Amino acid sequence: MNCDPHRPRFHFTAPRGWLNDPNGVGFHGGRFHLHYQHNPAAARWGDIHWGHASSADLVTWRDEPIALAPSPGDDAGGCFSGSFAVVDGVPTMYYTGHRPPAQVQCIATSDDMLRWTKHPELTLSEPPAGVAPGDFRDPFVLRHDGWWYLVVGASLGGERGQCLLYRSTDGRRWEPRGPLFTSPSRRFGRMFECPNLLRLGERWVLTVSVWPNMGAYAFVGRFEDERFIAESDAVLDADGSAFAHLAFPAPDGRCLQWAWIDEQRDADLNEADGWAGALTVPRQLALDAAGRLLTRPVDELAALRGETVADARHAAASGVLERFSGRHLDIEASFLPRDRARVGLDLLAAPDGSEVTRLRYLPDAQRLVLERARSSINPKTRRQNQQAELMLDEGEPLRLRVLVDASVIEVFANERVCLASRVYPALGTSVQASAWVEGGGGADLALRAWTMGSILPERG
Ligand code: FRU
Repeated sequence: MNCDPHRPRFHFTAPRGWLNDPNGVGFHGGRFHLHYQHNPAAARWGDIHWGHASSADLVTWRDEPIALAPSPGDDAGGCFSGSFAVVDGVPTMYYTGHRPPAQVQCIATSDDMLRWTKHPELTLSEPPAGVAPGDFRDPFVLRHDGWWYLVVGASLGGERGQCLLYRSTDGRRWEPRGPLFTSPSRRFGRMFECPNLLRLGERWVLTVSVWPNMGAYAFVGRFEDERFIAESDAVLDADGSAFAHLAFPAPDGRCLQWAWIDEQRDADLNEADGWAGALTVPRQLALDAAGRLLTRPVDELAALRGETVADARHAAASGVLERFSGRHLDIEASFLPRDRARVGLDLLAAPDGSEVTRLRYLPDAQRLVLERARSSINPKTRRQNQQAELMLDEGEPLRLRVLVDASVIEVFANERVCLASRVYPALGTSVQASAWVEGGGGADLALRAWTMGSILPERG
């Protein structure tokens, strides 16, 4: 694994094989638990199990035995996505049993977070009228007002995303409570997958991943009388760059979230390397006074910082402001551009410029663009730009937190924009980085960068 130049170090990947959505995240027995959609046998989607890793501190993780595997019955075609809660002291998984053409919501319990017992007698199998049996998945469990609630992703008539609500006193037997929320527009795709209903302070946030255009959205609003009333919406990761977000309320009150960052290269390259799929770093969610969703890496991530490779303050009219290098980096950069100067970072660049990934802020268009046209000389990798709208207030600096991790680039801009990308430089020398400014009246820059250690020390 160490010799694979595209393997991330501080973004979680499966030990081998395929990974997609984060599943069943929670805290129990003094440890954080992270499960994930997993095909242990091949680096492609199929025969979906739940993989498992745990951590005492959200910094380093250890692999645990596979938690759920398909078995004859409700989940014969795969153990699809779901969530976790400790119900009356009992660790409990809620997940979708895939048995084509049907999808049903299954329950499994454990005493030790290692061995799971399935309870087929508790399976929730009937979607409501108007929802096709195969458009019914990804149960999300939460506790509120003395009830257990389950939110299930669905499609209304194959046309519109919908989240269905169920309620229970014991977290086992569920009573349908009708639609929690129906998509207001076809802009949000035809089906909602992986819904999350989260309380942030006095307000509520409903996150969904949409099928088929693969974007993920957050609605901020109210949860009243068992209905969600949206007051605003926001893109979760720009351009569908991360998907299937899953959050949970940590014991210290933080709302912690992970999402899946898909591969962006031809499938034969995944298979040759023997692994596919990465998760975002653990993120922390909050709302600002204006009700905007703020997202940043958890503070614990800083514990992985090693050598400081840049620590600079510059004011410059144009050109390169600072140079540094690394394949696994945590970068904090604050730019104050003047007179519509364009600013940005070059990452994973070859000394001769033949490979480079460029992150650029365009003040006129108010867009943050990740340019991948030259990210790799390997033609079997995706090259299109990824971009996000980012409106800066008057005098507000551009505050970038950029996590570079071999083939993963995860960007947080002013905590309001997330963009998670994949790039695959082919040259061993593509480790140069720089901060620059062009046009306008130059920029002030404050930049610090560190090399990053591994979240999986036991894998070696
Ligand atoms: C989202 C998703 C879920 C489903 C799982 C299957 O990526 O399609 O809706 O449960 O993946 O792996």
